[in-house]
Amino acid sequence: MCGIVAYVGSRPAYPIVIDGLKRLEYRGYDSAGIATIEFDGSLLLKKKKGKVADLISYVGNSEPQGTIGIGHTRWATHGPPNDINAHPHRGSTDRLAIIHNGIIENFSAIRETLTCRGHNLLSETDSEVLAHLIEEVMSGSSLNLFDAVRAALSQVVGAYALVVIDKENPSSLIAARKSSPLVIGIGEDGSYYIASDATPIVSHTKNVVYLEDEEVALLDLNEGLRIRTISNDIISPEVHALEMEIESIEKGGYEHFMLKEIFEQPQSIRDSIRGRINLQQGELKMSGIDDHWGKWSNASRILILGCGTSWHAGLVAEYLFEEFARIPVEVEYASEFRYRNPIIREDDVVIAISQSGETADTLAAIKSAKAAGAHVFGVCNVVGSSIARETDSGAYTHAGPEIGVASTKAFTSQVAVLTIIALHVGHRKGTIAPERFTRLLAELNNIPELVEKVLEQAGRIDSIAEQFSRAENALYLGRGYQFPIALEGALKLKEISYIHAEGYPAAEMKHGPIALIDDDMPVIFIAPMDDVYEKVVSNVQEVKARGGKLLGIVTEGDKEVASLADHAIEIPRCDDALAPLLSVVPLQLLSYRMAVLRDCNVDQPRNLAKSVTVE
Ligand code: G6P
Repeated sequence: MCGIVAYVGSRPAYPIVIDGLKRLEYRGYDSAGIATIEFDGSLLLKKKKGKVADLISYVGNSEPQGTIGIGHTRWATHGPPNDINAHPHRGSTDRLAIIHNGIIENFSAIRETLTCRGHNLLSETDSEVLAHLIEEVMSGSSLNLFDAVRAALSQVVGAYALVVIDKENPSSLIAARKSSPLVIGIGEDGSYYIASDATPIVSHTKNVVYLEDEEVALLDLNEGLRIRTISNDIISPEVHALEMEIESIEKGGYEHFMLKEIFEQPQSIRDSIRGRINLQQGELKMSGIDDHWGKWSNASRILILGCGTSWHAGLVAEYLFEEFARIPVEVEYASEFRYRNPIIREDDVVIAISQSGETADTLAAIKSAKAAGAHVFGVCNVVGSSIARETDSGAYTHAGPEIGVASTKAFTSQVAVLTIIALHVGHRKGTIAPERFTRLLAELNNIPELVEKVLEQAGRIDSIAEQFSRAENALYLGRGYQFPIALEGALKLKEISYIHAEGYPAAEMKHGPIALIDDDMPVIFIAPMDDVYEKVVSNVQEVKARGGKLLGIVTEGDKEVASLADHAIEIPRCDDALAPLLSVVPLQLLSYRMAVLRDCNVDQPRNLAKSVTVE
């Protein structure tokens, strides 16, 4: 949540920072701002409620010229979105400015102390105290900026990714992190970049350093890059090469990132399974599991943690693991898991699922699972992310950057990777019949082609969306492997079209939601011909008898559901366990088109952010 960007070098900072903010807007978009140190030595601050585009219009022709700058795009936590609460924030004097992502938990106490000492805090944010606190530490000591930031942060409780500029040090940026991500880019011309993720950096340099928790970095045009911990231990920066390509973070001719990402799924799933399926040998390869096989073979339980769409991928995995690996599974919202007193055992395997690898609740939950002795395995998309680094082992989904706030390709890649894991564990444990295993490998390998076939129906889905787009409610129903897909379909619609939607196990509908059905209500049945098909057909009849506009997601050639429903979308025939990878695709397209028809901002839905780094 909140995107931060900074630059110091020989070029004007403004265009670089603005370009970076546009790339990070998925993290929050209720206000934006920039601070630069100008050639006359002044600290120039421009900030505005609204999106980065609003900031650009506000700045107009009076673009800052300085070659050092920091910028921020906000997702409000403390204080509503307005010009004053927008970042950057200054201290009491005009000397320094900060940008912050995270939450300062003890900000009230710090604010009170600072106010007693004469500081005049202007905003309602928790972040502003950081600027004043650093200033206060500097005023009462002879500490330089680097040491003052360290000293100030030792008084802070909470999460932060922070960048500071100081007009007395116009060639230095100071950055610090604890539980919120920060990446440093090292330019070949001696310049430095800082950002919440690598997307603003990749067009400038591929050499990056991931700052770790409780580290503070000085990026100085003369002194270079120096990193220390808050408690003053020297850290040698480890430079990594970014594998991201600039094309992967552009829209590539699509109207929205979400649409591009839906259409990328044949490729992203291919990338997720590449090198992991060996059809010749009839084997799967998953070194993150093989290297810790003792943990998996002895696991008495698998605990799956995630939030949002990743939690839905976890629900699909529950069916997969119980069917193929015969290990009991519990799937938990990370945010609930961490605040009750969960029973975690040393023979638990915990799987943390996260696209961003930065979700604060998931990160905190795995830390407590690790502390209790469980083996923690990460399924993350963003390489080098906090969760990927915190887990004992893991598997990347390799879906490529996902920018649309509503997750699409990351979900199918998560499900593909979790399918491989469940099959691999089942195969090694001998709990899956060899013939089914071999057949599933071949079918999984072919899934990208089948997803392409589903995508060919986009035009038809668009016309169904036209008929549904004025609905105020919608119900998604599925059973077995398709129940999590019902939840995911409903979430997609809610997120981007603001239509109230619920996902339900089809049979449970009789215990409540059936009361909602009237002639106008879209009811979407996800009803492929799997082993609960006949039961679902009865549920379709029950809805049909009470009105409702029925859409069936059915297996090609289906006659029964297709004849009962007002509309049907066919998905190719495949094993029940793989059908979620196909059935979710029409639901993504349906939500997308309904949201576009309702004039909603598909890539940046109101109130949401893609990476939720606050608890
Ligand atoms: C936010 C995003 C969702 C995502 C969830 C979990 O709510 O809008 O798309 O599913 O966070 O994020 P993660 O990065 O942990 O998968």
